[in-house]
Amino acid sequence: MQIPEHSHDPFTDHDQIVCRCLKVRLSTIAEAIEVCGLTSVREIKCATGAGDGCTCCHARIRQLLRQHVVEHDGAVLVP
Ligand code: FES
Repeated sequence: MQIPEHSHDPFTDHDQIVCRCLKVRLSTIAEAIEVCGLTSVREIKCATGAGDGCTCCHARIRQLLRQHVVEHDGAVLVP
């Protein structure tokens, strides 16, 4: 099976909705992390609204926070 050239990578598709309850996209959360320097789910929730519903997206938000730290600081946060 061949993977389509334009398949969406769930880790880099910035149009992807991370928080379905509040309809917050990955691009919004990524900007909050990168531009505003937010470092916790609570801060992301206050700034973007993401995670202020059923909380199902909290794990994904934590993953994005860890991913950002690894990519930019070369270290891993201990949850
Ligand atoms: S999916 Fe984010 S709070 Fe429900």
